[in-house]
Amino acid sequence: MEAHKLRGVMYGLAVVVPVIMLLQNLVLGATDECVYSGIINLGDSNSDTGGSSAAFGQAPYPHGETFFHAPVGRLCDGRLIIDFIAESLGLPYLNAFLDAVGSNFTHGVNFATAGSIILPQTRTLKQSGFSPISLDVQWAQFNDFHRRTQIFCQKESIFQELLPKPELFSRALYTIDIGQNDSTSSLFLNKSTDQVKAVVPVIMDQFKNIVKDLPLAAFTYVDVYSVKYNLFTQTKKLGFKESLKTCCGYGGKLNYDKDVVCGATKKVKGKEVLVAKACKDPSVWINWDGFHYTEAANKYVFDQIVGGSFSDPPIPVKLACHRH
Ligand SMILES: *[C@@H]1O[C@H](CO)[C@@H](O)[C@H](O)[C@H]1NC(C)=O
Ligand SMILES: *[C@@H]1O[C@H](CO)[C@@H](O)[C@H](O)[C@H]1NC(C)=O
Ligand SMILES: *[C@@H]1O[C@H](CO)[C@@H](O)[C@H](O)[C@H]1NC(C)=O
Repeated sequence: MEAHKLRGVMYGLAVVVPVIMLLQNLVLGATDECVYSGIINLGDSNSDTGGSSAAFGQAPYPHGETFFHAPVGRLCDGRLIIDFIAESLGLPYLNAFLDAVGSNFTHGVNFATAGSIILPQTRTLKQSGFSPISLDVQWAQFNDFHRRTQIFCQKESIFQELLPKPELFSRALYTIDIGQNDSTSSLFLNKSTDQVKAVVPVIMDQFKNIVKDLPLAAFTYVDVYSVKYNLFTQTKKLGFKESLKTCCGYGGKLNYDKDVVCGATKKVKGKEVLVAKACKDPSVWINWDGFHYTEAANKYVFDQIVGGSFSDPPIPVKLACHRH
């Protein structure tokens, strides 16, 4: 865990410690490409494919406009890093565990919700602004999902076409992408930078406790923080035009107003009119809505990490099932 360093401030307020962990359970010859039968993800909005929308209300248009052409539970104009990972492995996009309508979990499941944190959350979404579905809750949900799919898979029924086979759990790629809001939530409580830094070991201990519960897995730590940091320090060089300015928002120097966020509407002569709209070409913007990355930024991060250059051990996703 020594690779985590607090090195910057993003969006003016968030000291971030995002982490992607890939765990895999299968051990092959060291150079064989892994065959993942599915993906199991835990995380926050950076990998939320519908959990938060299912639990707390659908993210509105123009979320989803670039790729899905409709809102699809992602806080983004298009695909997330987890979607690019799924595509690269030839697997379907992940449905959210919490999404009761139309979900198909044969090739994986997603427990992430926007605003989830690593430390146990004790307050409601309204009170804190952060999801009550913190990492410990997602872990409990995963265990329940694991236990109950085994029971339902024995039954001759529609569930066989909707739930994973028992073998999936030992042949899945497990990804955990979380941590961005742990430090933000402390800052919202008006803690000083030093006080926030002091909480980091506590956060990492909780993270370790949960990850430790998969003792036979092969682990890869992916430093997405460095990649995301590059987006802000080398914006133009990487082909982007805007970094901190919000693509989908309203007002002010940064096109961001916390009370008029992406998708906000107002009534004009009895009609709902979109006030916080998206910029013309999100593909050259990094900051989608003031909190989340554009599809273009997510694609950049995926391209950087897929080969293993930011991983410890430094192996590509396709070889991450091997233990080192
Ligand atoms: C951080 O929290 C804010 C709400 O305070 C939320 O909109 C955002 O999605 C969260 N970010 C992540 C990465 O979960
Ligand atoms: C669920 O998805 C799998 C893989 O894409 C597919 O084979 C299966 O038929 C789907 N189930 C249903 C009920 O559509
Ligand atoms: C933090 O400080 C601001 C400005 O002084 C104040 O408005 C806000 O209520 C404080 N927040 C908390 C959680 O104490």
